Amino acid sequence: MRKKVTVIGAGNVGASTAQLIAHEGLADVLLFDISEGMPQGKALDLSEACPLWNSSASITGTNTYADTSGSAVIAITAGFPRKPGTSRDDLLHANAGVIRDTVSGVSALSPDSILIIVTNPMDVMAQVAWKVSGFAPHKVIGMGGILDSSRFRTFISLETKISPSDIEALVMGGHGDLMVPMPRFTTVKGIPLPDIMSKDKIDRLIERTRHGGAEIVNLLKTGSAYYAPAAATYHMIKAVLLDEKRVFPCAAYLDGQYGVRGTYVGVPVVLGENGVERIIELDLNEDEERDFRKSVSSVQNLLGIIEFN
Ligand code: LAC
Repeated sequence: MRKKVTVIGAGNVGASTAQLIAHEGLADVLLFDISEGMPQGKALDLSEACPLWNSSASITGTNTYADTSGSAVIAITAGFPRKPGTSRDDLLHANAGVIRDTVSGVSALSPDSILIIVTNPMDVMAQVAWKVSGFAPHKVIGMGGILDSSRFRTFISLETKISPSDIEALVMGGHGDLMVPMPRFTTVKGIPLPDIMSKDKIDRLIERTRHGGAEIVNLLKTGSAYYAPAAATYHMIKAVLLDEKRVFPCAAYLDGQYGVRGTYVGVPVVLGENGVERIIELDLNEDEERDFRKSVSSVQNLLGIIEFN
């Protein structure tokens, strides 16, 4: 039997994630949204595309948490999106409420599921989701680093005129303006980026990556990015469903790794059927360490604003 993936939030990120899963026939998809008719309509539209995609995935829409039971993966995209002038962090209180409601609605119905949190400010929302679910930390993962790394790869590709397929990149830290693109762990066909690009150029691409989300918000004016966020979410879902053991930067619960305890933040992890199966600890140099700590502190500041327990 095909596994079941529930996507919470049938907005642009959620619907695009469902589309990628359906197109690849990776799993059956349940699209959940509180807006009546909307997830049902989008699910029906996607179902009607499946014959053309030669996909036998089943796509259904619902407004009822009970329908989510037995999911293998639950991706939570619900929440208020960024608009021009809104930072990811401005969404803190509103979206924390959304995460509390949705996670308490779904976690007991799918106790064996892996939760993937997409809603911003993502690192903090992953922590809220983990607390509310009562799940082991390795089963709750935040999506940010794959997206940010994909943006960094894109900008390197545009600059070098080399296919992004031949570019590997790593962005660590929180999914916010203080994220830490890591040139030393970014390579073009195995060649470290600093060996083929000047520091000035790298710094420019790092800045563009840090503001990659805002660049799109400012262009769209009515919402935030969704094609790349959905593609990143899809890759995490696939790594879990197929037990791929892929190495991706994701927000994971740090319990002493990198000298950080009790905080969700972006680090390279091995993703498989158990969620975060391993956290990869890199040997950071002084500058990297300083930037990473700054980013972690900004996540911890937001965590301090939200009351847990
Ligand atoms: C982005 C926002 C939505 O990075 O977090 O596009």
